[in-house]
Amino acid sequence: MAQKVLVTRPLPGDALERLRREPLDVRLWEGEEPPPRAAFLALLPEMEGLLCLLTERVDEAALAGGGALRVVSTMAVGYDHIDVAACTRRGIPVGNTPGVLTETTADLAFALLLVTARRIVEAAEYVKRGRWHTWSPAVLLGADVHHATLGIVGLGRIGLEVAKRARGFDMKVLYHSRVRRLEAEAALGLTFVASLHDLLGAADFVTLHVPLGPQTRHLIGPAELKAMKPSAVLINSSRGAVVDQQALYEALRTGAIAAAGLDVTDPEPPTAGDPLLALHNVVVLPHIGSASLQTRAKMAAMAVDNLLAGLRGERLPHCVNPEVYR
Ligand code: DGY
Repeated sequence: MAQKVLVTRPLPGDALERLRREPLDVRLWEGEEPPPRAAFLALLPEMEGLLCLLTERVDEAALAGGGALRVVSTMAVGYDHIDVAACTRRGIPVGNTPGVLTETTADLAFALLLVTARRIVEAAEYVKRGRWHTWSPAVLLGADVHHATLGIVGLGRIGLEVAKRARGFDMKVLYHSRVRRLEAEAALGLTFVASLHDLLGAADFVTLHVPLGPQTRHLIGPAELKAMKPSAVLINSSRGAVVDQQALYEALRTGAIAAAGLDVTDPEPPTAGDPLLALHNVVVLPHIGSASLQTRAKMAAMAVDNLLAGLRGERLPHCVNPEVYR
């Protein structure tokens, strides 16, 4: 009998056609919306393969019913939506899509920084609403990005690419990271700052590039926001829960920091009527860091590669729990 596979959304590129050419029984969840939790839980027990997105919670409850599951492949680099330890306990390898989205996500983080600093969304709205009557010396003034100090929190692949982009803007770049990267310091003129609070106090722009985990949940809370300059801008394109969103709202409302640019929120999407969205000094995007045609097609292809390898009992090309093979 053909192996059953659940794909939780239509995929970009030719990934789905590739999957359909295989002797598999592919169950595709159609449409833009994720499967409701109940439907997901009901479908999973029959499946040998799961290709999911970051919108599906693959936790104990989901796995408890999924006796046949041989592989979980997410079309994302971040896998905080998956209980990896629970998968490992059941001998299920988990695949992700590292590398291919690095530069695309860094482009977006830098775009968000520019947009927020120079109030571009507000300015475009100003024109569309017919408020542009004349050139004016003191309207829509923002902050200079060139020659400002950028603080990167988390110098992994994406953080490093953001640092490269900052160099083109003659920014002074500080970074705080678990691991010190001496080569990158030398190549890009970066300065390591051992204390997160010191970095926050020195930067004009702070950009977050850490994965979400127990150590980074609410990494930026009231004390950290207080450590930032009142003129500072916070950019988050990692995961929403890295920031304590209530504390961020207060900091933006009271002017404790100048502005924020968020590609991610907690929860996603924000709840209806979230007062954060009413603030003039925040730009919120719908988690589009990796959203270019080329990158999303590559991510889908990688997710299919991981899925097929898992179904064949081969090692996943990109496995986040290699201990499963021991
Ligand atoms: C990821 O891959 O983790 C991003 O957040 C979505 O591309």
